[in-house]
Amino acid sequence: MKKAVILMGGLGTRLRPFTIHTPKPLLPVLNVPFFAYQLDLLKRFGIHDIVLALGYRSAHFKRMIGNGRKWGVRFRYSLEKTPLGTGGAIRKALPFLNGPTVVLNGDVLSDMHLSDMFHLHSGKNAEATLALFPVKDPSAFGLIETDSEGRILRFTEKPSPDEITVNTINAGAYLLELSFIRSIPPDKNVSIERDVFPVALKDGRALYGFVHRGLWTDIGTLKSYWQVHKDLLHKISNFPIITAKQIRRGLWAGKKTVIHPDAKIDGTVLLGEGCHVGRAVLKGAVCIGNGSQIKDGAQITDSLILDRTTVHSSCRLDHCLIGNHCHIQESSILGPGDVVADRSTVGPFAQRFSYEDDAT
Ligand code: GTP
Repeated sequence: MKKAVILMGGLGTRLRPFTIHTPKPLLPVLNVPFFAYQLDLLKRFGIHDIVLALGYRSAHFKRMIGNGRKWGVRFRYSLEKTPLGTGGAIRKALPFLNGPTVVLNGDVLSDMHLSDMFHLHSGKNAEATLALFPVKDPSAFGLIETDSEGRILRFTEKPSPDEITVNTINAGAYLLELSFIRSIPPDKNVSIERDVFPVALKDGRALYGFVHRGLWTDIGTLKSYWQVHKDLLHKISNFPIITAKQIRRGLWAGKKTVIHPDAKIDGTVLLGEGCHVGRAVLKGAVCIGNGSQIKDGAQITDSLILDRTTVHSSCRLDHCLIGNHCHIQESSILGPGDVVADRSTVGPFAQRFSYEDDAT
């Protein structure tokens, strides 16, 4: 288990508008590009040779992450002219591989014990081992059922209530033998989850499930992208790749960030590098990206603001997600669920009107 493939070629449509300019794996989570968490995991298990399976915006990746030296790993790029799906992308990476390979979806964050997974895999002579994660409400997921030895018995897509006999879902991480990867049809768009694994199961091949019970989260949707921020804000100190320093309880800030002494900060707040916070109020879970500015009188509650955005004076932001390089102009009010795309200008005095207010 020396090499890994990270699947990074999806369009990330569910995470628009943020993925219009930035591919999903490069979006920041707590001001660190998402894929850096995956590199951190792989390095912990001695995996430094990483194939990036790319299509959409591959030039953006190359420019931003280069050959991997900066991250202490070596990248090889496997480039698709047209998207090959998750299965086709893994098959295309075959020339770069030489043994059992870890495959990660590019939008999953976990602290999975890859060595334990490998022990199960080799102990059972598996051709493919799928990481499984137990969820509270399995109704919205494809379920994977195993026997007591971990051998996969069944894949159930979109289960009806009486089909929900287990709560383990595909966690988006696999260990695959070369023979398994070779058996995926080349140069075809196939999904590993929907096409390859179910057929392999029918053919009686040795597929196993490794149940992971630690941290697991994905950033596939706007909701989960925000949720991962809220969850990890409380665990910043578990992630050495986050370089911001703790200023006091509940407040972290990156280098060269200036906070006005009269700013009121009450909650769990992360400020990036080179930010400027005036006499503003920051409440609840708040993450503000590098180079962003919060002017006097602004009030921000439970919100995510990406890089180099300015929230001008007297704005109120409550439960919203704001992209890079935005201007939220003076006295604008944004409310729960509002999402502002990169490079947008909102306001001044923008707000939602309420039909109820007129009903006198
Ligand atoms: P949505 O458009 O929002 O569904 O997102 P997505 O395109 O990323 O699809 P999905 O979340 O199902 O993909 C899971 C993982 O596989 C992500 O890390 C994707 O980047 C990756 N992926 C999906 N399709 C392809 C593909 O055709 N090629 C490659 N290389 N990766 C893919």
